[in-house]
Order: sequence, then structure tokens, then C-alpha cells
Amino acid sequence: MENFEALKAQYQEELKSVNGKEELGAFWQKYLGKTGQIQDLMKKMKDVPKEEKPEYGKKVNEVRTWAQDLYQAKADEIKLQEEEKRYKAEAIDVTIPSEAKVGNLHPITLVKQEIIEIFAGMGFEIFEGPEIEDDDHNFTRLNVLKDHPARDMQDTFWLTEDLLLRTHTSPGQIRVMDKKKPPIKVLVPGRVFRSDSDATHSPMFSQMEGLVVDKNITLCDLQGMLDEFVKNIFSSDARTRLRPSYFPFTEPSVEVDVSCFECGGKGCPLCKGTGWIEVLGGGVVNNKVLENCNIDPNEYSGIAFGIGIERITMLKYGINHMGVLFENDVNFLKQFKA
Ligand code: PHE
Repeated sequence: MENFEALKAQYQEELKSVNGKEELGAFWQKYLGKTGQIQDLMKKMKDVPKEEKPEYGKKVNEVRTWAQDLYQAKADEIKLQEEEKRYKAEAIDVTIPSEAKVGNLHPITLVKQEIIEIFAGMGFEIFEGPEIEDDDHNFTRLNVLKDHPARDMQDTFWLTEDLLLRTHTSPGQIRVMDKKKPPIKVLVPGRVFRSDSDATHSPMFSQMEGLVVDKNITLCDLQGMLDEFVKNIFSSDARTRLRPSYFPFTEPSVEVDVSCFECGGKGCPLCKGTGWIEVLGGGVVNNKVLENCNIDPNEYSGIAFGIGIERITMLKYGINHMGVLFENDVNFLKQFKA
């Protein structure tokens, strides 16, 4: 029994000098593990005289409980130390001035948002349709019938016999009129695709469709809204001019010019001396299109327009090659920081 005191003293002394998780594990093996010294005390029971066995057993249990308690306290202490070490190593000084580079929105996104804001101010809602369309929505129900030469106005990327990458946002008109009855006043922004590539054309570009359907809507409403649009996006004294044009889904159809905001209309290189710049296409929604969407043309009429977002962006910022809008050269893009 004196041995117990010696063992306890040794145990306590050794535990004090234990440092870190690994040493703690070794310590456990040495004393409390299956073949550890404290566990061994029980095995010695067989050598103890019979009458002392109960006393011996009780004592061993006491020592074991005492040893386990001490061990647990040490284990808790080590855990705390290691946590503290980790917290120190991972600490972040939130007072260090940040050198993070702040990005900015792409000019196309900026212009798209600006256009949306202008038309939202006139009461337009936003609708978005799919980039993969079917023939029906992209062409047929827009009155671009099969074998009609107007199909060649847009070089289409066909995916299957029936599916294609939408060539314009006009299928959004059909999707809106299928879902909603007049009064309708929506903007449909989106990416569109055509097999076409040069300084002013890219196989992927962005459009913003506008559609208004209600009672007594006329071409005058179209010009009024577009006048408001060009004044906001280009310059407060900008005006629009309508020229006759052709689209199968509008009748009459117009090409819309804006008075040159660079020279005020006197003539300059931007407007090629004419004083006018072509900006978008539009017109009065063709009765056939209304009928294709179960809207009675005797009761309702509509106007529609399609804005090329890259074109507006290039005009607004004096960009003469469309490629820079897609190259993502950071030196070019960071000029658009608000
Ligand atoms: N969808 C036509 C185009 O991409 C533009 C347009 C839209 C014309 C709406 C009239 C009405 O060329």
C-alpha cells in the first residue's frame, strides 16, 4: 500500500511535465491504458492476502478515479492551450487597411440597367425568355412563315430541325402575350445569336425588346416613348426620326434614328455627315401576331421595338469596334467605374 503513494507522486510529477496532445496520449498508455501501471494494480490482487483483498480493491479504485480526474483536468487544459494556439495563428487583423481591388460592372450591364430604369419609369415590367427557342416562337407566330424570304434577314444557328438559338428577343413578345392579357407593357432583355461577325456585328449580342398592347395604341405612342428614351440615354435635346422599314411582325414598321448627339445635327464623322444615327427598329404590332396570341385586333393594338444594347453602348461611349465589348481587357473595362 505504500507503493500507492509512491506511484501517485510519480504520476502527478510526470503529468505536470506532459506537453501537447501526443505526449498526453503516451502518458495515458503508460498509466491508464490496458497494460498501464494503474491498470496493473488490479492484476496484483491475486498476490494480496485474502483478508486484505477488499481493502486493496477499494484503494485501487480510489487511486484510479483520482488518476482519471487528474488526467481529465490536464486533457482539458491542453485542449484549451491548443485552441488558443490555433486562434492566434488564424487571427485576422481587421484594422489593416484593405487593398482589395473593387471591380465594376461591364458597360453592357450598365447600359442594360440604364435602359431598364428609363422604361421602368414609364411603367414597363421585365420579362425574360429562353435563349434556346423553337421555330414557332422565334419565327412562325411572329409572322415569319416557313420559306418566307424574311427568314434570311437573320442568319440562324439551328440546333435541330425545330430548335435554334434565338435570333432576337421578339419571341419574348409571343411568350408574354400567351401568359398575359392586355394591358401589357413589358421589356424583354436578353442575349441573342446570329451567324455574323465584323466590326459592328458579333455572333452573340444583347437586345431589349419592348411591347405595349392596350386599347388605342398607335405609332405616336412608340415615338413618344422612344423620344423619352433617347433624351435620357444620350442627351436632353436628342430627338427621334422614323423611317419606313420592314419587319414581318410589325405593320407599319419603322427604323428609328436619333439626332446626332455629337454634333447636334450639323453633321460630323459619327453621323457620317447626315445629322442622324440609326438606333433601333420597331413598329405597330402586326394584327396577325395579335391573332396568333388570341388577342382581338379589333379591340386592341400594340407597338413593339427592339433595341441593340451593344449598339447603344458603342454610340454612348464612342466605341468603334464591337470586339472590345467581349474581349474583357481589364484596362478597357475599368474605365467604366461609376
Ligand atoms: N426583332 C427585330 C430585329 O432583331 C427588331 C424589332 C423588334 C423590330 C420589335 C420591330 C419590332 O431586328
